[in-house]
Amino acid sequence: MKHFINIKDIPSKDLKKIILDAKIRKTKRKNFNTLDSDKDSPLKGKLLIQMFEKSSLRTRLSFYIAIKQLNGGALTLRSDELHLSKGGESLSDMAKIISTFGNAFMLRTDSEKKLEVLKKHMTIPLINGLSPKSHPTQVLSDVFTIEEIKKKPISKLQICWIGDSNNVLNSLIEASVKFSFNLNVGCPKKYEPNKNLLSWVKKNKGNIKIFYDSKKAAKGSDVIFTDKVISMNDEVNKVKKLKDFKNFKVTPEVMNCAKKDAIFLHCLPRGSEVSNSVFLGKQSKVFEQALNRIYVQKSILLYCFKKLR
Ligand code: CP
Ligand code: NVA
Repeated sequence: MKHFINIKDIPSKDLKKIILDAKIRKTKRKNFNTLDSDKDSPLKGKLLIQMFEKSSLRTRLSFYIAIKQLNGGALTLRSDELHLSKGGESLSDMAKIISTFGNAFMLRTDSEKKLEVLKKHMTIPLINGLSPKSHPTQVLSDVFTIEEIKKKPISKLQICWIGDSNNVLNSLIEASVKFSFNLNVGCPKKYEPNKNLLSWVKKNKGNIKIFYDSKKAAKGSDVIFTDKVISMNDEVNKVKKLKDFKNFKVTPEVMNCAKKDAIFLHCLPRGSEVSNSVFLGKQSKVFEQALNRIYVQKSILLYCFKKLR
């Protein structure tokens, strides 16, 4: 079995295999109902346990539907109903119980440390469904969406992120190395991506450019990404941070600096970092992006169960 915790720890060839499997499985499901299982029923009888310490709509729905389509089942735990959340049980004991009752565990957490401890004690796959520093399942799915819409490998495209250096950007940066694509980041001074991550990129010959001007970052790009300025785990002065980002909103003027056929992506939920006309406009692919999470979660699950072809 394999864990899926951070993109940077997964070999490129495995990430590419996940994307390819998702493409094949998606094509084969034309005319299937949402809960019909894939013909090969690869995870028949398997139970995915998922738990959310933070809010979620898309990740929750997509993992539930994904395991169903593989002919397994899902159980969603509310962290506030567990002994763990009130200090009444250790993480290591919980890891052992989850490992004996279930076949895979997906966790959205408020702490990287919890993922580390769980990983040490779990004997079933552990999937990171968002942590303060990483959102790997989202970004892998976004690579899938980009290649599907652009009909090209992402390595041939210019990708641009405008906004906060948050968990989604961290995973996108990791993906830029694994999939060899050029990434422009537009952010205010003092909000640059994490230095250690940038050194890792340098060591691994990645290509990231940082701009303190959103239009310059967007210039010539095929894809413009953004995300909320204030993330779920942000403990900052929100008023100040929003003010610091006032010139980093994705507006039609910013989109006009990108290529004519550029697309706009956003993991959702959104805040004030994108104008309504861009979000609901022709270039926006945010709803296709959200739905594709199902297909990529399926292939991530199969990777974890070592069932990828
Ligand atoms: N994009 C994403 O992970 O959405 P949720 O927070 O709703 O799961
Ligand atoms: N950066 C956001 C992503 C939400 C899916 C957050 O962590 O809140």
